[in-house]
Amino acid sequence: MNYSIIGSGNVGMALAGKFARAGIPVGMANTRGPDSVRELVAQLGGSVTAKHLNDALNADVIILAVPFRAHAAIAELSEDWEGKIIIDAMNTYGVTPEELAGQASTDIVASSFVNARVVKTLNQLPARLLALDPAEDGGRRVMFVSGNDETATSTVAELVGLLGFSPIVLGKIAEGGALISIGGPLILQNLIKKG
Ligand SMILES: NC(=O)c1ccc[n+]([C@@H]2O[C@H](COP(=O)([O-])OP(=O)(O)OC[C@H]3O[C@@H](n4cnc5c(N)ncnc54)[C@H](OP(=O)(O)O)[C@@H]3O)[C@@H](O)[C@H]2O)c1
Repeated sequence: MNYSIIGSGNVGMALAGKFARAGIPVGMANTRGPDSVRELVAQLGGSVTAKHLNDALNADVIILAVPFRAHAAIAELSEDWEGKIIIDAMNTYGVTPEELAGQASTDIVASSFVNARVVKTLNQLPARLLALDPAEDGGRRVMFVSGNDETATSTVAELVGLLGFSPIVLGKIAEGGALISIGGPLILQNLIKKG
């Protein structure tokens, strides 16, 4: 299983730090090309590699850490995302209700990435908390995970655990995803699970 983070901003860099700490190889890409992040990535150590966007999209598991609207342009880079797991780490700040048209944002992502399995997670904490060591106060910071495909969801929950968090699977997007979307009761909850 190999991984990429798309987006090298607040969330992308916080997540890259988690992969580096766990020693899990990950590619990182943005709109500006690998040279734009090479120095930052070098500071994280060997497991994070700056890549061109098209190369990063070859990964089995692709984490979207880009502004919500940007997902569509990325999805257009392939007609078929069969076999890929897309992690939706995005929030819909600034997106109008008209744009969402009553749909869950992750369902919109899923319809853009044709045939991919999409899992929502890593979006619930502000980037500054995401960047911290998830081990705290004798426990681990909770990260909720929601997806419609059970196998993909458990694969992602396992990754979230390897990154140091305590994963809690909430079930499918219509129920669990809503809890961790903007306006949901679990977004921005900084919880520590002990034991
Ligand atoms: N900030 C937070 O505390 C926080 C917490 C949880 C979730 N989120 C969500 O996470 C996402 C990222 O937030 P952020 O604060 O990290 O944003 P950010 O700092 O503005 O970074 C956005 C990144 O996305 C990249 N990008 C934009 N369009 C792209 C495209 N078409 N292809 C490839 N890369 C593209 C940008 O590339 P360039 O560097 O080349 O411009 C940039 O590296 C958003 O959906 C946000 O709602 C944010």
